[in-house]
Parts: sequence; structure tokens; C-alpha cells
Amino acid sequence: MLSVTKFSTDNCTCALNFSSSEYLQDTKDDSINMVVTSPPYVNLRKIGVHPDKYVEWFLPFAESIKRVLVEDGNFILNINEVIVKGIVHPYIDDLKQEFRKIGLNQIAKPYIWYKTTAIPNRCSHRAIDRYEYCFWFSNGKGTFYRDNVRVPYADITIKRVQNSDVISLGTRGEKGHKVFKKSRIDPRGSLPHNIIELSPECNPRIKHSAPFPIGLPEWFIKAGTVPGDTVLDPFMGSGTTAIAALKCERNVIGYEIDKEIFEYSKERINNFINKNLQEKVFKDKEN
Ligand SMILES: C[S@@+](CC[C@H](N)C(=O)[O-])C[C@H]1O[C@@H](n2cnc3c(N)ncnc32)[C@H](O)[C@@H]1O
Repeated sequence: MLSVTKFSTDNCTCALNFSSSEYLQDTKDDSINMVVTSPPYVNLRKIGVHPDKYVEWFLPFAESIKRVLVEDGNFILNINEVIVKGIVHPYIDDLKQEFRKIGLNQIAKPYIWYKTTAIPNRCSHRAIDRYEYCFWFSNGKGTFYRDNVRVPYADITIKRVQNSDVISLGTRGEKGHKVFKKSRIDPRGSLPHNIIELSPECNPRIKHSAPFPIGLPEWFIKAGTVPGDTVLDPFMGSGTTAIAALKCERNVIGYEIDKEIFEYSKERINNFINKNLQEKVFKDKEN
């Protein structure tokens, strides 16, 4: 461990480790409710991890993640495929297979982060890439707080429900799905689906080459944890997961190995906390 910086707010704590996360030193066994992370991308050049070596490189991190997760803990992995010599490299399949061997199972179909905007590119062999995977793993059953991530019903759904008692019969006939009786509209909103639509982070003030938007970790943190739980990002980068966790009143632990990026994440998180506390003081004065 090279150094640790701690912040606290009224409701939660934040510990930022300037250190490699390989062994998650200083993070106790059974202490983390959810890991949300986007690890370094595979890289075909000399810098970074080659896809052929990625599984071997990642396994010590996965073992440590397994160690620190509470029972039925959650592990969200944001990762993307890579095409090598015209063929999709199988490193993600291989990674999942190795995870299974150590007791980390994928417990939901992949969540898709659909990027609502994209930088134009000139790929002639295939369609433009507009999504990334977020895989949900667990050492048990995981936890899913669906009421935390309900969404408004589409206008068309509400109209259809208002116009008829039973909208349609399922394909299995009388005994099939009689769906959408009036009473089935839930006032808390509709259940979420597994496509998360967000534009990539393009704020030029964020000093990191590959940040994800705050909305991405925020969605998973809300879906898989409750206030007071603890979230970990072992590849913290600019601190986006930490900010999302603090926003949702979850404790957070982050690790970053690059000194310059670590210093920037501290500054970004500190600014976020100060701004929020100031807003809170302001609101308190108003009341
Ligand atoms: C894809 S970036 C994460 C970006 C982050 N999600 C954000 O929003 O800024 C991966 C980060 O992992 C860091 N990293 C690479 N190897 C590491 C290690 N062994 N331990 C901790 N951090 C590491 C890199 O320096 C990089 O900042």
C-alpha cells in the first residue's frame, strides 16, 4: 500500500488507495456489497494487456474480489470485445469460464450500455460499435432492489391499459399470459430493462482517457445495494464510481495505480463532496 486518503460525508465514508488492487490489501474479507469497475482495456500494442494474456492477468484481481465480497455480493464488470485480425477475440468467454471455477457466476444476461452518441468512424467491414457490456456476477444469488430502478411507463402502455381490461392473450392461449389488467399498472413505475441508454462521458475537464458516465455505475449501485452498503472500484481511474456511490449514500473504496490519475480522482471527489455539502448547507438555511 503506497497511501490511502479518506473522506467522509454526513452519511458515508470514502477510502481512496494509491496502490495496485491485485491483492486488495487493507480491504477486509466479506466487507464489500458490490464491486463496480471497468478494468484497463485490452491492448494490442506494447502498452497494456494483450487479449491472449488478459485472463491470466485478471485472475489474481478476481480472486481478491471474491475474497472481499459479502455473501450474495455483486460484481459488475464493464468490458468490451476486441477484434483481432478480423475475428472477435474470445477473451471475455475465457474470463467468464475462469470466474466460474473460482465461484463467481454470471447471474443475469449481459446488461448493455447503449451509447446514445458516438464519435463517427469509418469502419467498412461491420456496423458502428455503439454498446459495451456490463456483466453481473455474484458469489451467490446477488441482490437486486428492483424498486430502486423502476422507470415511468411508456405513454402507449398507459393508454392501452386504460382502454381495455385485458390487452392481449399470450401465445399459450387461455391459460397463457392474460397481461396488463388495469390493476397491474404499478404506481411505483415499470420494471427496468437491461439496456442502459447513456451518452459516453465527454466532459473535457475530466482528466482521464476512458471514464464512464456517472449514470452507469449509479444505475448498478441503486439496483444492487441500499444506503449504508459498501461499493468497491479496484480500477478507479477518475473516481466516477466513487462519486456515483457517494451520490447514492453508499460507502466507497477505490484503488488506482497511476499517481497522476489518483491525484486527479482525489481532487474530483473532494470537489464533488464540497459542492454537495455546500448545497446541503444552503438548503438547510432555506428551510
Ligand atoms: C478503464 S480505466 C477506469 C476508468 C474509470 N471507470 C473512470 O470512470 O474514470 C482503468 C484504470 O485502472 C487503472 N489500473 C490499471 N492497473 C491497475 C492496478 N493494478 N491497480 C489499480 N488500478 C489499476 C488505470 O491506471 C486506469 O486508470
